[in-house]
Amino acid sequence: MKSFSSAEMEAQSLVVPLPRPIDPEKMPQHIAIIMDGNGRWANAQQLPRAMGHRAGVDALKRTLRLCSDWNIKVLTVYAFSTENWTRPKEEVSFLMTLFERVLKNEIEALNLKKVRINFLGDLDPLPSRLRDLINESIELTASNTGIQFNVCTNYGGRHELVLAAQRLAKLAVDGKLDPTLIDEKIFAGELFTSSYVDPDLLIRTSGERRISNFLLWQLAYAEIHVTDTLWPDFDSISLTKALIDYQSRRRRFGGVDSHFDQQFKA
Ligand code: IPE
Ligand code: IPE
Ligand code: MG
Repeated sequence: MKSFSSAEMEAQSLVVPLPRPIDPEKMPQHIAIIMDGNGRWANAQQLPRAMGHRAGVDALKRTLRLCSDWNIKVLTVYAFSTENWTRPKEEVSFLMTLFERVLKNEIEALNLKKVRINFLGDLDPLPSRLRDLINESIELTASNTGIQFNVCTNYGGRHELVLAAQRLAKLAVDGKLDPTLIDEKIFAGELFTSSYVDPDLLIRTSGERRISNFLLWQLAYAEIHVTDTLWPDFDSISLTKALIDYQSRRRRFGGVDSHFDQQFKA
């Protein structure tokens, strides 16, 4: 009899059905999440911050699984910002070790779930063992057909825009690109997210109403859902609420609702 590894069993276990109040026809294609509040979660329970980050990993596993089961095409999460290096060095090194351990432990299960993983950000300053694992994981899952899962690591929106400008300037100086031809499409093509549609929905946990240098270009028309829930407590009810909130919005993209269309017609 064939015996299954725990990763295989997890991949084969039941798909979580989409909760009834959510309309399957109006799902966002791309969800972006600022996973905030790990420290406050730990603090509230008189635990060290590290325990909050550990619990945050469980919340991420849960959320990825739900997004995959609910047919979200792209999930992009903010794991470590270019500004997070300013934290105490013990916390930074704990986070780097945690990323490495989680990736090593989870990659087999993610692959079996057909997840395609990518890491967005400037990966050069990361510890070399983590970088190697990242590259192996990207390669291993590159031809998977399930959810696209992007982990923003040493990511900063301003840094991403500067890198794009540098690359375009170099092409222009080398005579390979006419600067007057640079348009939004060409510019977006130089961003880490060039292969993905822009996020439709941005979720930020722990109540903070700011972007914190996340996806500055790509969030131009995202609907924003802020919840007071701390990231480690984010669960299927929280995601359901975010999706219901999203589906209640009228996205106008600078235009007007169609029922106003007639007003300026002669
Ligand atoms: C988010 O939680 C995780 C990372 C930035 C790595 P925080 O660590 O920012 O938690 P708070 O905001 O201090 O509660
Ligand atoms: C944003 O959270 C970055 C990540 C979630 C990785 P921060 O905790 O770093 O953001 P601020 O300091 O509240 O703006
Ligand atoms: Mg924070």
